[in-house]
Amino acid sequence: MKALVLSGGSGTRLRPFTYSMPKQLMPIANRPVLEHVLENIRALGVSEVAVVVGDRAPEIAAVLGDGARLGLRLTYIRQEQPLGLAHCVKIAREFLGDDDFVMYLGDNMLPQGVEEMAREFTEHRPTAQLVVQRVADPRAFGVAEVAPDGRVTRLVEKPEQPRSDLALTGVYFFTPVIHQAIDKITPSARGELEITDALQWLVSYGATVRAREYTGYWKDTGRAEDVLDCNRELLRGVERSVAGLVDDDSVLTGPVVVEPGARVIRSRIVGPAIVGAGSQVVDSHVGPHTSIGRDCRLHGTAVEDSIVLDGASVIRVPALRGSLIGRSAAVSGADGGTVHHRLVVGDHTQVEVAA
Ligand code: G1P
Repeated sequence: MKALVLSGGSGTRLRPFTYSMPKQLMPIANRPVLEHVLENIRALGVSEVAVVVGDRAPEIAAVLGDGARLGLRLTYIRQEQPLGLAHCVKIAREFLGDDDFVMYLGDNMLPQGVEEMAREFTEHRPTAQLVVQRVADPRAFGVAEVAPDGRVTRLVEKPEQPRSDLALTGVYFFTPVIHQAIDKITPSARGELEITDALQWLVSYGATVRAREYTGYWKDTGRAEDVLDCNRELLRGVERSVAGLVDDDSVLTGPVVVEPGARVIRSRIVGPAIVGAGSQVVDSHVGPHTSIGRDCRLHGTAVEDSIVLDGASVIRVPALRGSLIGRSAAVSGADGGTVHHRLVVGDHTQVEVAA
């Protein structure tokens, strides 16, 4: 089996971060979403992976390289315009050949993994197998109607009146028959070749499409609050490991990771939390549910339930919570008794200040 990871898309819902980085590189527990995705793929015993990239190709390639570090062989396929998930399969045709493959959306996190689904697919080898999850409001997703024996009877992309609460997650298993279906469909109202339409085409022609419910944690990391939620979820699995320096005046409680070269001085860190390599935490309170990236500086600050990206500094900010601080951003509290807020804030940034 091969794998196709889709990492195009402009990530407008994650602006301003996506002005300078593709959304698939957003760090969750200090590792890019894409690395978590690729680890799940490697866990299936798959090593040949094509990553479909848009105009953020150089940044993605700079982080993932040839994949050797992750135990994979990566091929990059350029999609010039976001013309849909089925279009991605189309342009990967040569790479995929006549092999079965798993298609995985590069911004979807399923930390419990999809091994069980892969096993079921290999065992029964239906034409396609989908990973679905029950959701409260399925209107934002592809929706599958599924018979009690697991066969899909109908699929609709983002229906206004869903007839089932089973949403398609970002993971699909395909036999090469999918290529025939993709050749038959035409672009949807949003101008994209929808994989959901190709699947519905298969169902209409009597092919076996199966769905398997995934009951673990699933998140499309499209918005800031999803990224924070996902970070909380992944930090739950962290174990204590202290490679950096922690002075005698600091206290670490619970699962805390202090990466090599990090320094924790006169501070309190409550796990689950990670302090990235080369970062300094001085006279501060960090955690729980907080990831501090590499080479950050926190001085006289209290931060919880947040992600601070590489190179950012947070100085004299007494109560930061539920925040996402971008790379090399500088956030600081006033030095004297001033009560003003002074903000130099970029496009599409969200700021909430205490009244
Ligand atoms: C895509 C698929 C949809 C699926 C969703 C999962 O939607 O078209 O069927 O449920 O991913 O995240 P998109 O994110 O392109 O709107």
